[in-house]
Amino acid sequence: MKRTKVIKLLQQEPGGDVLVKGWVRTKRGNKNVTFIALNDGSTINNIQIVCDTASFDETLLKQITTGACIAVKGELVASLGSGQSVEIQARDIEVLGTADPDIYPLQKKGHSMEFLREIAHLRPRTNTFGAVFRIRHAMAFAIHKFFNDKGFVYLHTPIITSSDCEGAGEMFHVTTLNLENVPKNEDGTVNFNEDFFGRQTSLTVSGQLEGELGAMALGDIYTFGPTFRAENSNTPRHLAEFWMIEPEMAFYEIEDNMDLAEEFIKYLVQYALDNCKDDLNFLNNMIDKELISRLESVVNTEFVRLSYTEGIEILEKSGVKFEFPVSWGIDLQSEHERYLVEKHFKKPVILTNYPKEIKAFYMKLNDDGKTVRAMDVLFPKIGEIIGGSQREESLEKLEQRIAELDMDYSNLWWYIDTRRFGTAPHSGFGLGFERLLLFVTGMANIRDVIPFPRTPKSAEF
Ligand code: 4AD
Ligand code: MG
Repeated sequence: MKRTKVIKLLQQEPGGDVLVKGWVRTKRGNKNVTFIALNDGSTINNIQIVCDTASFDETLLKQITTGACIAVKGELVASLGSGQSVEIQARDIEVLGTADPDIYPLQKKGHSMEFLREIAHLRPRTNTFGAVFRIRHAMAFAIHKFFNDKGFVYLHTPIITSSDCEGAGEMFHVTTLNLENVPKNEDGTVNFNEDFFGRQTSLTVSGQLEGELGAMALGDIYTFGPTFRAENSNTPRHLAEFWMIEPEMAFYEIEDNMDLAEEFIKYLVQYALDNCKDDLNFLNNMIDKELISRLESVVNTEFVRLSYTEGIEILEKSGVKFEFPVSWGIDLQSEHERYLVEKHFKKPVILTNYPKEIKAFYMKLNDDGKTVRAMDVLFPKIGEIIGGSQREESLEKLEQRIAELDMDYSNLWWYIDTRRFGTAPHSGFGLGFERLLLFVTGMANIRDVIPFPRTPKSAEF
């Protein structure tokens, strides 16, 4: 007999024999009847298994404890109890794997998130993490669907790279050199000619530079892959390894870029509301009572668009004493972003035209010579969820900026070539996948929306 998943069983009419396999959530009962709540990960909902206690071997029933894995054959019958329409009247139970109640860590309900992070190998078996990881999957699928339906090409950009896209120097080195005995040049610097790639390489912080090459040939592309940042930020919003979605579009000006970003996020939130109802209802009840209303409100409001300069004015006039003082030219901190979004406008904000000094080298310079066509999308509870820009398409201006910043031209010659041959206006942005998931799930810490988080001093599992 073939196994049926719980999600399907719960939608079936009663009647007929079924086989179900999963992990025991709870067992209760007496000498007449035993009830087992079984979950197989296909849905947040459990199926109830009903056993006539006397007709099962006592040692077998003893092995059915929280966390054990069992296979159950029986009849799917209408349920008399409340909470489910069907249940399984068990005829045959096989214990596939026991879970010794003395040492299985997921006994009681209500473990802290911190404790669950220490058992990241088992936390997917909790309701909360099951819900989060199913939603994570649904969002990944919806991202591909959104772009595929619009005719974007999914371009795989490299993970090992020799350029620092964001120029922040926060890269993890990739090397096969013997760290105990590093080959040196005569001047004492490391001789990377001897390294695997014959040059210094790192894990990428962004697929954008290669994404731009794709856009200059295929028109509309997107990347969706892991990115790495060796920034020592111990915050609920930073990971050292996170996933990023980066669309890049030929012939897009900054306004088109903003339109796409807004449409994209609204599409994803609506997709979650339409397709992840059970999981969202659970998270709404258990994690964040305003989750669903916040999701609905984002789908139904127009994002505010305003310039960095206007944003600074609002912050200066607010009378609030921020930890980091506000003046034109500062890099906005999360407290500033959240003030604009949560207190002042009470809706998502797209900030544009930032000072060029606080943004990356590739952004298009405005006519004022001071600001660039950057755009950051700021969200309630999250702060920056998207960062993007129109790109500098002028060869002369791009070369000038690279020189000003004293960047290594020899690592970027291929990028600059796109401005030499058939250059065109183009724009793009990066959505942090885990920041999106923080918003969609209502979870408070970014470590709890990725299965195996990588953060400073932490890379177990
Ligand atoms: O603003 P960022 O650094 O922009 C870029 O990397 C551009 N190359 C994107 C582009 O234009 N194609 O990063 C983009 C987004 C941020 O808005 C944030 O959501 C997320 O990536 N992000 C992080 N998420 C988790 N942990 C970190 N350490 C993150 N750093 C950035
Ligand atoms: Mg940014």
